[in-house]
Amino acid sequence: MFEPPTTVEPRLQIVELPRTGAEHRFPDDVRAGLASRPKTLPSKYFYDDLGSALFDAITHLPEYYLTEAETEILREWGWEIVRMLDGPLEFLELGSGSAVKTRLLIDEALRVQPTLRYSPIDISLDALRSSSNALIERFGGLGVRAYAGDYFAVLASDALRFEHRVLAMLMGSNIGNYSPAEARALIALVGAKLRPGDALLLGADRKKDRATLELAYDDPTGVTASFDKNILARINRELGGTFDLRAFDHVATYDTERGCVDSFLRSRFAQRVRVAALELELSFEPGETIHTESSYKFDERDIAQLAAAGGFTLEKAWSDARKRFGVYLLVR
Ligand code: AVI
Repeated sequence: MFEPPTTVEPRLQIVELPRTGAEHRFPDDVRAGLASRPKTLPSKYFYDDLGSALFDAITHLPEYYLTEAETEILREWGWEIVRMLDGPLEFLELGSGSAVKTRLLIDEALRVQPTLRYSPIDISLDALRSSSNALIERFGGLGVRAYAGDYFAVLASDALRFEHRVLAMLMGSNIGNYSPAEARALIALVGAKLRPGDALLLGADRKKDRATLELAYDDPTGVTASFDKNILARINRELGGTFDLRAFDHVATYDTERGCVDSFLRSRFAQRVRVAALELELSFEPGETIHTESSYKFDERDIAQLAAAGGFTLEKAWSDARKRFGVYLLVR
């Protein structure tokens, strides 16, 4: 019998977006941030190899309940999440996904359909390669089409292609590290890329009491302090800085008005610091701070507003048993 020829897609494709120059903005962003008053540094620069390893350690801290609470929700409710939409589905994840959480959803999807395409977007090609290879090794029915690039650049490009109904995912409270305006812009960009009936699964930390939040961002082991100070170490390593990491304290404060934990590095005393590659000479007053991160917290109303800004409706919300974290299904 005649068999028509078929083309079999490789199970792993990596699409590298052309470089835009945005990858080399570290020196300019450091210069601009340290020239502004109050001084500031963008939290996206936490994640070099050491910073990523320190963040991974944070996710194991008992005080940083976010990862455990989100994993609990996916373990408990993953079956329902993948059944909320008429399939077959494909997944689009902003970030290359944590081993445990993404696997839970892939595993559930492969119970209701024989194959699944998973498309992660991540700035780090190495992170994409290693997580994608591990996933295709683990799941026989999985095909991965990974996109290396900045979320905004990949979402704006026409390299993204979908065949089925899309369940996009932005997990781990990553949305919380954007300013409210940036968060709305990101959700709107995802919304513009999806079609009616597609959905976005959003994992976001909930507003709660100050003590719990401040402990989550300033753990007694000091891992979060090291994670924060690594941005100064990175300036020393990459730009010839002379920051003495022991001369700064890590501070985390919850601003109830904005619903946001702000992280700062606070100079212990008056000091001068040089950054050779920028020909920069800085001075710090005693107690002067560098703002390094905002981690916004959300209640259901905040999420419904964010959803509306992206052309989504909030369809369903799940929480862990202790109501610390939320996972939300936003449908286009
Ligand atoms: C990656 N992001 C969601 C973390 C957060 O909770 O804002 C980063 C982090 N900063 C301090 N601890 C964890």
